Amino acid sequence: PEAVPFSGQHQAGIVTPAQDRLHFVAFDVVTKDRDRLIRMLKEWTAAAARMTAGQDAGEIGAVNGIPEAPPDDTGEALDLPPAWLTLTIGFGPGLFQRFGLSAKRPPALEELPRFTGDTLDAAISGGDICVQACANDPQVAVHAIRNLARIGMGAVSVRWSQLGFGRTSSTTTGQTTPRNLFGFKDGTRNLKAEQPDLLREHLWVQPGDGPDWMAGGSYLVSRKIRMIIETWDRSSLAEQEMIIGRRKGSGAPLGSDDEFEEPDFTAVGADGTELIAKTSHVRLAHPDTNAGARMLRRGYNFVDGSDGLGRLNAGLFFIAYQRDPRTAFIPVQRSLAANDEMNEYVRHVSSALFACPPGITAPDDYWGSALF
Ligand code: HEM
Repeated sequence: PEAVPFSGQHQAGIVTPAQDRLHFVAFDVVTKDRDRLIRMLKEWTAAAARMTAGQDAGEIGAVNGIPEAPPDDTGEALDLPPAWLTLTIGFGPGLFQRFGLSAKRPPALEELPRFTGDTLDAAISGGDICVQACANDPQVAVHAIRNLARIGMGAVSVRWSQLGFGRTSSTTTGQTTPRNLFGFKDGTRNLKAEQPDLLREHLWVQPGDGPDWMAGGSYLVSRKIRMIIETWDRSSLAEQEMIIGRRKGSGAPLGSDDEFEEPDFTAVGADGTELIAKTSHVRLAHPDTNAGARMLRRGYNFVDGSDGLGRLNAGLFFIAYQRDPRTAFIPVQRSLAANDEMNEYVRHVSSALFACPPGITAPDDYWGSALF
């Protein structure tokens, strides 16, 4: 109960109904020894399979080993249920410059371009390997990342990590649409688990798209987006709805009362102006404006304390999965960066791109086996 199967054709944590909590980590690979890295990936896979089933990270466990040795689990998740924990791994572009992997680097795994208005902090961007831990209990998610970091000591070091709460997307039709820190429903027109044809077309890498090892995988883009909430909170309700292009209460597109109705970009008001402005977020992000581009958004809210200037350090940790970022995130973000009215209220402060391989299907398989 409360456990998500670890193995399967695709990695868990992508179309899995979005859990409430996130601990996302990006690692730098610090070892130059290929065998050391492979050994760690095998140990990680075994630990991930155990922890997602609600067990200790190691076979002996937090309290059953000899008193003279450090335990093979840190203990803070003892007595806690698995809480729908999923662990999803991805490999960053930089990894493929080492370990003889250059021929395996998918063309889709190019560093993202610089977008207009980016104010990225390199220290919290990029990374060689990411792990997305999602669970309904933050302690379970943190325990999992902590134990992977512990196991990886000497092979990888934590580059940056991010905690998130209050999922900002629904990834199945069974979930109600949650709200982000602007107070708007987020995830209404997301890709959903119940849409196999759309997932095949827009989410999962297909055979022939690039190197075989990525077939059944997906590309993850993360963007830490600081929200200037104090300025947002002083703008009027009408202004906020104009910026998003939807009603704040119902989430319906302007001109409609139904959250799930298709936005009508041709509708005009009594004075002849368009109900959904050309510079609104939903219009600029809509597939019709971006050659059909779609992605599965799976972000979380964050509040990292305050910024020392009397403001909350808050925002959206945006995560999107897609079959190819060159035809999904990149064109959509270009159109948002150029024209979105929302830009006055947001700052992109971190960015990363990872190739998430397909799932584990055989008992002796391990994360990244197809690479080595
Ligand atoms: C839709 C908020 C950043 C892509 C939406 C919706 C809201 C929203 C409220 C409407 C509900 C929905 O359909 O889910 C935000 C906020 C952001 C942000 C507050 C930043 C803090 C981004 C970024 C991208 C993006 C960076 C991608 C580059 C989309 C897409 C849709 C969407 C693809 C669905 C459009 C459609 O198919 O109608 N967003 N968003 N958003 N957003 Fe964002």
